[in-house]
Amino acid sequence: MNAPLVQRQLEPACSSDTASATPNQRDVSAAPDGTPGDWQRRVARAFSRAAPRYRELARAQMAMAETLWPHLPDHAERILDLGCGPGDLTRRVAERYPDASVLGLDLSAAMLAQARQTLVQQTPTQQTPARPAQDDRGTEPRRQEASPHPRATACAWVCADAQALPLADASLDLAISNLAIQWCPDLEQVLAELHRVLAPGGRAVLNTLLPGTLAEIGQVWRQPGKASGVLDFASLDDHRRAVLSRPWAATAFEQRAERFYYPDLDAVMASVKGVGAQVARPGARLSRQDIRQARARYEHLRRPEGLPVTYQRLTLILDR
Ligand SMILES: C[S@@+](CC[C@H](N)C(=O)[O-])C[C@H]1O[C@@H](n2cnc3c(N)ncnc32)[C@H](O)[C@@H]1O
Repeated sequence: MNAPLVQRQLEPACSSDTASATPNQRDVSAAPDGTPGDWQRRVARAFSRAAPRYRELARAQMAMAETLWPHLPDHAERILDLGCGPGDLTRRVAERYPDASVLGLDLSAAMLAQARQTLVQQTPTQQTPARPAQDDRGTEPRRQEASPHPRATACAWVCADAQALPLADASLDLAISNLAIQWCPDLEQVLAELHRVLAPGGRAVLNTLLPGTLAEIGQVWRQPGKASGVLDFASLDDHRRAVLSRPWAATAFEQRAERFYYPDLDAVMASVKGVGAQVARPGARLSRQDIRQARARYEHLRRPEGLPVTYQRLTLILDR
């Protein structure tokens, strides 16, 4: 990787802390000390807590990442995966562009640790035994030795904030991001940073979320007089304004409702909490009755495929 491209790391916001954190709404004024730094720390903690099981529970996130693919350019040499999480997309992009250097950037140190691990270990089918395996008569199980992914050395990882990229001006050909920028309180700043670090002719392809995302969850946990607890998503107009605050050569917006189905309420909540996107259930402590009511309300929404969870996906394709 072109590691010298990375100019600085924003350590204070990066956390592998496993303390409880429940980032829900981007209303930073509601944070204990009212600073954006506190919000970032809470987001980093929540995602670090989710990191070990993220991959297992991120079916919706992985499916939505596929929609970035058709918008990728034919050629790119310097690539950023913004909010890379455990690095699956980063790895695939490194495979897609065999001559490129790829930087995975995330606020969460634990997500980055997962990403590093993914790249230093090949999948089991690619592994070779450390020594000949013994057959049925043998006593020792087959031991396999992890070996680095062939593109491991092309990937670098940095713990930093999408709103303050530690990268030089015009240092990238391509920036991708799947479902990370909705966690940034200052959308305009994120897009300004992407505009700054992309070279002329470069492209950003970004998936984010619009209001209406997780609407079913907000609906079933709603309590009178309380906020829904679902993250406050910026509107399409907010995104247009933020994009248009910089002189992009071309912009395209693709909006689509993506629906995923789960067998029961526990699976729904695991799918949301397990990927770091906790939803505050008003009142913090829930009574058995609250839970019973939520289950009953969700059952009214059941379809033959299961309980629905809707994500309002917005894909931004921005040419510098
Ligand atoms: C839902 S996960 C998506 C991960 C990955 N892109 C994927 O598709 O699976 C969102 C990621 O964005 C990261 N994130 C949130 N706010 C961020 C910020 N301000 N700067 C950098 N990363 C951020 C989180 O730590 C988390 O790993």
